Amino acid sequence: MLEFDYTNAMASRVGDHGVTDAEWAAALAAGRPAFEAVEKDSAAGKLGFRNLPKQDPSEISRIAKIAAGFENLTVLGIGGSALGTTALASALLHPWWNFAAPEARRAPRLFVLDNVDPEEIAGHLEIALPERTVYNVISKSGETAETAAQLLIFVNALKKRLGDRWTEHVIVTTDPDKGFLRHLARRAKLPSLPVPPDVGGRFSALTAVSLLPLAACGVDPQRLLAGAAAVEERGREVAYKAAVLYIALYRKGKRIAVMMPYARSLRDVADWFRQLWAESLGKRKSLDGKDVYEGQTAVKALGATDQHSQAQLYNEGPNDKLIAFLEVSRFRRACPIPAGFEDDTCVFLGGKDLGELLHAEQKGTERALTANKRPNVTFRVEGVTPETAGAMLHFFELMTAYAGRLLNVNAFDQPGVEAAKHATFALMGRAGYEELAQEIRSETPAESARRIERI
Ligand code: PA5
Repeated sequence: MLEFDYTNAMASRVGDHGVTDAEWAAALAAGRPAFEAVEKDSAAGKLGFRNLPKQDPSEISRIAKIAAGFENLTVLGIGGSALGTTALASALLHPWWNFAAPEARRAPRLFVLDNVDPEEIAGHLEIALPERTVYNVISKSGETAETAAQLLIFVNALKKRLGDRWTEHVIVTTDPDKGFLRHLARRAKLPSLPVPPDVGGRFSALTAVSLLPLAACGVDPQRLLAGAAAVEERGREVAYKAAVLYIALYRKGKRIAVMMPYARSLRDVADWFRQLWAESLGKRKSLDGKDVYEGQTAVKALGATDQHSQAQLYNEGPNDKLIAFLEVSRFRRACPIPAGFEDDTCVFLGGKDLGELLHAEQKGTERALTANKRPNVTFRVEGVTPETAGAMLHFFELMTAYAGRLLNVNAFDQPGVEAAKHATFALMGRAGYEELAQEIRSETPAESARRIERI
């Protein structure tokens, strides 16, 4: 279902920039307590995401049917409440989903806002008319300012057009008991689904957070969960090995982890992984309270596009990266390149397929990186299906949990994100944050102390 190929991360291929057989055996043995600690936490019920493959998605499917009847489904949310949906939608829906004719799509157009850019949001009201749109507002905490602002804007637009019937256009996904959104769902009797309290935002793709929008677009949640279940059943050791390798190379100076899918459908998996890896591992404190400032910077790239943008740096710049390809053995569609011109530039391409060209591009990049002693690995799936997509997400979540323990940091909190959330509340005048607002104002440099050049 999913292969982890780390041949080109070994010293036999990339010299000192890889791991020797002896280092590898030692790292696997030294990391074993971290593996055991994750498994113990999991058995004690502390890692909610591990239970997700076993969930019953029937309520999700029921509510998804409501959403499926609309022309547009717009997800209001940010970060972990949005990125998984974008990743799965890119992986599993038609590449031009929102542009397809309604009779071909037979499901809503899907928009995931994931920001509060005024031009983007105001523009969205024009291209997806509120009276033809269902808004799935998603926030685990139910308190996030960006999501609340999005909701206020769209509910206001709905009320103007539909009055009290605005409630027929909003579905809530949030904590089962707490937070503003849960209270709103109760008060306004909105259809709602829970995000399990023990599942963190960036680990929540396989909850209603992403399963509902995907199900509304025709993806069977059970198939995604089956892929994740396969990882739980037989993929833990592989996820552990991947984590050990990433951390071993991080310790050898590979401070950057590039994820480079060679499939457009997996581009947003790399974006989702970027958040998972960054927020989970980027930590000041160790589990025993010391200042450690750990974390490996995750970067997204896309083959073949970024061969013409980033590959120069990856091949000849600082040797501080581990590059991971996401490879699809078989694309879902063929796209033959016809013969046409006899010129040298074209003649060798005629009669081949674009998939063949993309695979050759990947092999070429892999070969160049390896020749330049740049460690690289490949995560390979046979094809992109709901099962392999579910497996991939669950695999990377598991790998992140192991990596957190290997680094001795808490992979499940995000104090740095919370700090920025509170600063936003203060700057926007939320009650209870007056002191912080005052503190922020007092820290702002005086005009005379600012360094700005103007043209
Ligand atoms: O992973 C996380 O916890 C964060 O990225 C959150 O998902 C993000 O901050 C949004 O939070 P919420 O879902 O509570 O609105």
